[in-house]
Amino acid sequence: MYKNFRIIGLLTAIFIGVACSSQKSVELQSPDGKLTYKLEISQQGKLYYKLKADEYEIMSESNLGLVLKEDSLFTDKVKIVSVSKNEKDETWEPVWGPNEFIHNNYNELVISLLNGTNKEFKLHVRLFNDGMGFRYEIPKQNALDSINIINELTEFNFVENGTAWSIPANFESYEMLYRTTKIDEVVNANTPITVKTESGYHVSIHEANLTDYAGMTLQNTGGTGFQANLVPWPNGVKVKAKGSLLSPWRTITISKNAAGLVESNLIQNLNEPSVISDTKWIEPMKYIGIWWGMHLGVETWTPGPIHGATTENMKKYIDFAAKNKVEAVLAEGWNTGWENWGKPKAFDQTTPYADFDFDEIVKYANAKGIELIGHHETGGDYIFYEECMEKAFAKLHNNGIRVLKTGYAGPIPNGHFHHGQKMVQHYRKVVETAAKYELMIDAHEPIKATGISRTYPNMMTREGARGMEWNGWSEGNPPEHHLILPFTRCLGGPIDYTPGTFDILYKNRKEYIKWNSNDKGNSRVNTTLAKQLALWVCLYSPLQMASDLVSNYENQPAFKFFENLPADFEESKVLLAEIGDVYAVARRKGNSWYVGAITDENARNITLDLSFLKVNKKYKATIYADGEKAALQDNPTDIKIFEKELNSTTKLEVSMIESGGQAIEIVEIGM
Ligand code: NOJ
Ligand code: CA
Repeated sequence: MYKNFRIIGLLTAIFIGVACSSQKSVELQSPDGKLTYKLEISQQGKLYYKLKADEYEIMSESNLGLVLKEDSLFTDKVKIVSVSKNEKDETWEPVWGPNEFIHNNYNELVISLLNGTNKEFKLHVRLFNDGMGFRYEIPKQNALDSINIINELTEFNFVENGTAWSIPANFESYEMLYRTTKIDEVVNANTPITVKTESGYHVSIHEANLTDYAGMTLQNTGGTGFQANLVPWPNGVKVKAKGSLLSPWRTITISKNAAGLVESNLIQNLNEPSVISDTKWIEPMKYIGIWWGMHLGVETWTPGPIHGATTENMKKYIDFAAKNKVEAVLAEGWNTGWENWGKPKAFDQTTPYADFDFDEIVKYANAKGIELIGHHETGGDYIFYEECMEKAFAKLHNNGIRVLKTGYAGPIPNGHFHHGQKMVQHYRKVVETAAKYELMIDAHEPIKATGISRTYPNMMTREGARGMEWNGWSEGNPPEHHLILPFTRCLGGPIDYTPGTFDILYKNRKEYIKWNSNDKGNSRVNTTLAKQLALWVCLYSPLQMASDLVSNYENQPAFKFFENLPADFEESKVLLAEIGDVYAVARRKGNSWYVGAITDENARNITLDLSFLKVNKKYKATIYADGEKAALQDNPTDIKIFEKELNSTTKLEVSMIESGGQAIEIVEIGM
């Protein structure tokens, strides 16, 4: 649905300029007064900050600073030149998202500083009720032309120990299983990393607005202390800039409960408003596609007897989409080059394989009112992709195609890393160029989500996690994986996890080709069918895929839940959340609600409070629950679908088996 991008209320920028060179500290509080930030300068002129929530210290003295090849900034003999305080309280309306409105309310400090060699720099600090962000700025100045950052000194020194959910630091991939450890046992981590401190605060560290900088990982510096470790260029330099530099925001989201982390909009609020003025071509969609067959090894990306992306197969998928209220169809393996995957310049992003009649498929999809999703696997060869990108995007645009899935499955040339500055620039270039050709992006093997969808609402969704594909050719993602994702990876932004396997034990797969070295012959999906449905609600994505083969959806009453599920929502409420254990969320579109509830390896009975429904209205729920005979090991597909009348006073009992779940559609039926 087209939503005009507009800011609804604005009260902003009360400027309180202060200039006092002998000042040694500055304090700032969140709008509700509960978070207190203190910036201090030590005897040697080193900068550090502390952060308190209520009376609890969250971060103790944590260093700030950048070490440049040219100079060190923020590191010693630092002086405060001036401090300005601003505040903002606005509500903005995203083009799409789990909520129709986003409240952006913060107090801000902009601190201008000088170091021992009189270089100017600034620190921007914003305190929200649900956390904070801070960033470094190096303004243009005569004494500093080229900037080469060799180390970022930013620290996050937790005062208390607690439980941490994290994946290891990795410069190439986020496709790893989460570890649940003590905070002081985390040696290094990618962000977002989420912790629950001993006093019960839920804290997540991440970054926002990663635009022209290296991705940040965290390195343990002893005990519960961490320091930023940036992904390097091949020559070891971390970040390069000419003239001036503005770092991404370093973010600390804080909540007394896990639900508050999910409901926080801090990351998006730390990004700039949309630069796309006409957004009517940007629209959330549900999709299916020629995809899972290749991961299962029953189809191939390359031509041959079991080539997946053929004209005939595409027509079958388009027909299914048209019949079952699915807006779009993806095809992978439609273009030449898959036989060269792994080699430089492998993929031709404009030439279809002979058995994929591009023009005919476009015509057929148009006639049926179905959108096509283009696919560009690059194998990591970003250089070649940049050479042919404009032509490839124009081909999609000229054929009325509005969505593009990209992929970077392979090494980045010349010693670059997937998460280094060069690739951050590349991923952004793709999004910007896509906007020019009115294309929405779904990026796989992406750079992490840092909220840039606010600025580029055509950046719809991305992978950047161990997604469904791993179930096709490895021992699969464990039951708790889905109970950690919403509180870690998903805090950055939407995830293209691609839920929706109905043939959980691959009973309909007769023969298959082992194509992935992780495949030990024991692959399966480690959930029940009802949990697969619930994941469509729990793992939010504005491009939401039903990823199984359409043959596995034929005559399956449970597919009705996906049919009726909207692609976009107006309101979302977390009903229950314990990281790694249990999660239930409700999303509203119009007068209807869609609830997803999921559990880890433990069976659970939970009670959902439905007071979010309108008072004095009656509702009919269609409930998709784990069946009486459902069993994770050998009967995960047993599902029971039944109706129930409810209202806002209902306390709904939800019972889930091991790695089970429940999906509920709630429709208003009158007074
Ligand atoms: C990895 C992506 O995550 C997956 O979705 C895709 O099918 C393959 N690469 C091939 O591009
Ligand atoms: Ca992947």
